[in-house]
Amino acid sequence: MNLERKANLAVGKPVNRVDGRLKVTGAAPFSAEYPLPGLLHAVLVQSTIARGTIRSVDAEAARRAPGVVAVYTHEDAPKLIPTGAPGLTNPGGIGSIVPLQGPEVYFVGQHIGLVVADTLERAQYAASLVRFAYDATPARTRFDRELVNARPPKDMMGAPPESRHGDAEAALSAAEVKVDHTYTTPFEHHNPIEPHSITASWDGGKLTAYNATQQITGNRLNLAKTLGIPAADVRVISRFVGGGFGCKGRSWPHIALAGMASRHLGRPVRLSLKRSQLFTSNGYRSPTIQRVALGASRDGTLRALLHTGATLTSEKDDFVEIFTKGTHHMYECHDVKTSQVMARLNVPVPWFMRAPGESPGTFALESAVDELACALKMDPIALRVKNEPEKDPGDGRPFSSRSLLACFEQGAKRFGWDRRTAEPRSMRDGRYLVGMGVAAATHPVHQMPSSARVRLSIDGSALVQTGGQEMGMGLATVMTQLSADLLGLTPEKVRFELGDSEFPNAAIAGGSMQTVSVGSSVQAACAKLIAGLLELVARDDSPLKGAKPDEVEAAGGGLYRKDDSSKGETYAEILRRHRMESLDVEAGGTPPAEARKYSMHSYGAQFAEVRVDPELGEVRLSRFLGVFGCGTILNAKTARSQMIGGITMGVGMALMEETHLDPASGKFVNDNLAEYLVPTHADIPAIDAFFVDEHDPISPLGAKGIGEIGIVGVAAAVANAVYHATGRRIRDLPITPEKLL
Ligand code: MOS
Repeated sequence: MNLERKANLAVGKPVNRVDGRLKVTGAAPFSAEYPLPGLLHAVLVQSTIARGTIRSVDAEAARRAPGVVAVYTHEDAPKLIPTGAPGLTNPGGIGSIVPLQGPEVYFVGQHIGLVVADTLERAQYAASLVRFAYDATPARTRFDRELVNARPPKDMMGAPPESRHGDAEAALSAAEVKVDHTYTTPFEHHNPIEPHSITASWDGGKLTAYNATQQITGNRLNLAKTLGIPAADVRVISRFVGGGFGCKGRSWPHIALAGMASRHLGRPVRLSLKRSQLFTSNGYRSPTIQRVALGASRDGTLRALLHTGATLTSEKDDFVEIFTKGTHHMYECHDVKTSQVMARLNVPVPWFMRAPGESPGTFALESAVDELACALKMDPIALRVKNEPEKDPGDGRPFSSRSLLACFEQGAKRFGWDRRTAEPRSMRDGRYLVGMGVAAATHPVHQMPSSARVRLSIDGSALVQTGGQEMGMGLATVMTQLSADLLGLTPEKVRFELGDSEFPNAAIAGGSMQTVSVGSSVQAACAKLIAGLLELVARDDSPLKGAKPDEVEAAGGGLYRKDDSSKGETYAEILRRHRMESLDVEAGGTPPAEARKYSMHSYGAQFAEVRVDPELGEVRLSRFLGVFGCGTILNAKTARSQMIGGITMGVGMALMEETHLDPASGKFVNDNLAEYLVPTHADIPAIDAFFVDEHDPISPLGAKGIGEIGIVGVAAAVANAVYHATGRRIRDLPITPEKLL
């Protein structure tokens, strides 16, 4: 089926969300909103020391408290089976610390008790009564002090921790112009508005878990594994998710506890984390310390590129924030070195957070490129044009598509970049210093196997199902559009269902890959459905008799011959004649084999304008424009929305977001939304975002994935604008007033 041939398609249009009304009226249920009869409420008790052993537990007062049904600690909790740490082969793994299975404590906030009561308030009160005595041992709580012990990680998602091309050190020392600086980014927490929640319920030996997750398949497998039952006996339902940004993309230990307690008590159990627990229970972005050194000839040709540094992980589990991931393919350069080391601290394990790697990595790299432009007295966009590669300089593969320069060119025009005067502190608006900055954005194109089911009914409607997730991206909307086009139906005739592990397996809603992954399975299922219909009519006297799939077109609720559109019939006619109520098919989509031959990434250009108060050091964003090349845009409205959301989060990263780890206690101290600052409406001007015209010839649907690229490069664009406004280069995020004074 060739989508381009047909007029009046739904794909690409700014279609409203099919679930928009449900969402704005509050009728879209989150995982903690399923009212089950006999529901019990569970509350976590967490460790208050960073390292040591639990010496004793006193749970008597909690057990006697009103309404309490059970108190579990490592002394009496039912057995949970280790699932292994998350990795490429088991992305949903619960990790090395299986909760309540032993007295060892590895970080503040580790789950060490679970209290279950008839109401949430009674469970919370009883949880406050459980007393633990510890034998504490010295803990590692300072990233800077642990750097001496930092080691290269075993691998970085299959890539080695160090990569060399040519001799970057020699090229750097020989370069005519060079910049060489250290950039740092802090602990950052995802902070979705919906807290992680699970409602677990058993029927016979089977578990149903309403669970806030980006990954129902991984949750199903790991719940089954840790509870020792077959995966077929676990059903995970997650119809609407109130934000994830990565932190719902894993099977966190609390879900095992909810499943355990519900089975043990024979009643449904709901466990919803409170905001402070979201700072210890579901990952965060590791802080980074990054060195970027760039060497260039006087004409701006890049001669040397070094990007090295450190991240941290927990004592028991590895996770690497791969900040050098995007560096290899950005600029033409012969002599390149990247390397990363990882320190181990007594902290919870970090995890993927929106554009993991690229997000902190581009803050350093794109700040450094700006610094090089200043040193060369060259326009920062011109410097990027000068060093634009023909093919991937890292591995020599051709780019499947790359519109970085188009993004800069069209963005510069729209943003009015030519109004910028090059000299720092040269632009003013009354008492405010005005600055304009740019940075490049990039995000890899990922795809994972997915499956979809399509039921075509005699009333001419289609039901499409897949176990995907909706957490704001608009999967149901886009897949409704796509299915309608593929089947020649109006979107009103298509119903798309997701968020249930009874549906065919879908890729994780992460890595900006869900739309392409699920989309290619919907494409395969619709193709299989049409082939099935043609098989049916091959045995009767249909005008379609003998037609092959590529000889027909789906349109107007039926199939018609391409060479003679008067020959064909509706789906209803075909099904009625064959006395069928419906035709059902299921099919899978996998990444195309030729994808391996290409370097596949989305690119973008971020433009920031700031006003800085010279006396108070306060930075206000006044304008922002993001321009992106992400392949075919399947829904102009939801796609743009995602970019605006990503940019907003990037502004938070630039100016506000930072979690403080108190080295004395090992505790994240600002574990609330009053002290962990994220942008509010008053902080964000009208953000502008658009996509350049691009179609990727390799990726299914021509689409490359959107969502995460929105945040990439934003912090650098803001930092570069702050430099332009003030002449002060801030290399340590976030850019708070005290750093500018
Ligand atoms: Mo995203 S960090 O891949 O959910």
